[in-house]
Amino acid sequence: MDTIEAILTRHSISKVKPDPIAHELIEKVLHAAVQAPNHYHIRPWRFIVLTGKSRQALGEIMAQSLKQKNPDLPETAMEIERAKPLRAPILIAVGVDKSSDPRVLEIENICAVAAAVENLLLAVHAEGLGAMWRTGPAARDPEVKKFLGFAPDQELISFVYIGYPDMLPAAAERPSFEDRTVWME
Ligand SMILES: Cc1cc2nc3c(=O)[nH]c(=O)nc-3n(C[C@H](O)[C@H](O)[C@H](O)COP(=O)(O)O)c2cc1C
Repeated sequence: MDTIEAILTRHSISKVKPDPIAHELIEKVLHAAVQAPNHYHIRPWRFIVLTGKSRQALGEIMAQSLKQKNPDLPETAMEIERAKPLRAPILIAVGVDKSSDPRVLEIENICAVAAAVENLLLAVHAEGLGAMWRTGPAARDPEVKKFLGFAPDQELISFVYIGYPDMLPAAAERPSFEDRTVWME
């Protein structure tokens, strides 16, 4: 699959099979992710790869945190929250490192890490896997960040859910670039 084909045929895959994914394959797509451009070569990305029971532990933190914010939350809603990280056999939480270097702008680091996530999505797709970039309140939750080893003020920009596709990609036509583009001479 060439680059343009990978870009044009990638779609979010929200439903994946529970089948395990070879460790080497996850290493391969992470290797692709870290080829992203980054200013000052500071490699601001942090990947926390969750497999097996660590996904249950994350779900429990998410459910307890939601309950703390909404004390009347019914058990059924807790169960839904608990199950979220189990939607895929591999879940990669992607954080942005803070830098003490005064030259470094946080916005640029966020851009670099987002580029790494896109590389990851494209590599996953090229390898016949499916992925979905998710965020939601959990990505901003200090308890979730603590569990993953991130500081409370550190950006967690993505939970990438990865697995073998268990759905056909959405056939929706993508909008054109034309109404978002101005040519200047
Ligand atoms: C920063 C970011 C956050 C996202 N968060 C969510 C999310 O929380 N839930 C979700 O269903 N999709 C989320 N998405 C995925 C988008 O919904 C998806 O990319 C969009 O619908 C376009 O579909 P495509 O990926 O198939 O092109 C997110 C995407 C980005 C870039």
